[in-house]
Amino acid sequence: MTTQITIRRPDDWHVHLRDGALLKGVVPFTARQFARAIVMPNLSPPMTDIAGVNAYRERIIAALPEGSDFTPLMTLYLTDSTDADEVERGFAQGAFVAAKLYPAHATTGSAHGVTAIANVMPVLERMQTIGMPLLIHGEVTDADVDIFDREAVFIERTLAPLVHQLSDLKVVFEHITTEEAAAFVESAGPQVAATITPQHLHINRNAMLVGGIRPHAYCLPVAKREKHRLALRKAATSGSTKYFLGTDTAPHAQHLKEASCGCAGIFNAPFALESYVQVFDDEGALDRFEAFASLNGPRFYGLPLNEGTVTLERGPVNVPAVVDANGTAIVPFHAGETLGWRLVA
Ligand code: NCD
Ligand code: ZN
Repeated sequence: MTTQITIRRPDDWHVHLRDGALLKGVVPFTARQFARAIVMPNLSPPMTDIAGVNAYRERIIAALPEGSDFTPLMTLYLTDSTDADEVERGFAQGAFVAAKLYPAHATTGSAHGVTAIANVMPVLERMQTIGMPLLIHGEVTDADVDIFDREAVFIERTLAPLVHQLSDLKVVFEHITTEEAAAFVESAGPQVAATITPQHLHINRNAMLVGGIRPHAYCLPVAKREKHRLALRKAATSGSTKYFLGTDTAPHAQHLKEASCGCAGIFNAPFALESYVQVFDDEGALDRFEAFASLNGPRFYGLPLNEGTVTLERGPVNVPAVVDANGTAIVPFHAGETLGWRLVA
């Protein structure tokens, strides 16, 4: 039995670092595990221009623990009025490496998102020309579409036509949650990839609803039926270069989740690698973990691989019931569980 695994330093291709005191409280968890992370722009107000993104990057760097060499990779938040020249300028300057498309009102912090793809078509055409990745929250928001169907319907109505129309546009279908999404990614060309979160590999919707309502298992896109979880595990561990690690760690204060209208988001940053490696171990695919965690992402984005390595070893690690993030109590993913692998410091 393998008791230890050493891989090239990994990156997290989807994180929410928030801002202010909470940023300072959560960024050390991501910086401890990952060399780089794609930072989501859904702040309030959202990061919609170069100046705002640059200032946010500086706040992230200032919030890092002493001696950290973590690099935030920034993203731009697309709105109906995003200017294609601003996008091209910011990408060329290295202000951001990608742009994020939230359908308006799909999730936390998406109120200023895009109301119709047609409104951003000039921007997407420009991104295709300059080779800039588009990161997509893939859910429709129509009131008449059931929340468990919103990803599959998005593929049909929005994503498939978009990928067909802009066939060279680099697209990351973020945090996929269904077998339909995995099938779509698999059948698309090499310009289409996807991130997969640890929670969607570990839990199905029963975790949220059986024996009482469990707000800490609630995120968007919401966890689906077991067959979807199994399809995602198969995809992540398949060895396909189209899938890579993106935790979608999304911290919310405990009291804002344990509420009559609790926030969507799972805070998985503290034990993200431990959580993922367990899945690869269970699937007999430890030899494929490095590609998922450390190789496929940078290759898709056209960024260099990290130098250095991290080591995980078999052995119990207890996940606390609550984490103190600089004064904010947050319940982490796997709270109260014992995981079977630990990151060697
Ligand atoms: C994210 C958040 O809280 O910012 N929430 C979530 O459930 N994943 C937003 C998002 O990525 O959908
Ligand atoms: Zn997210």
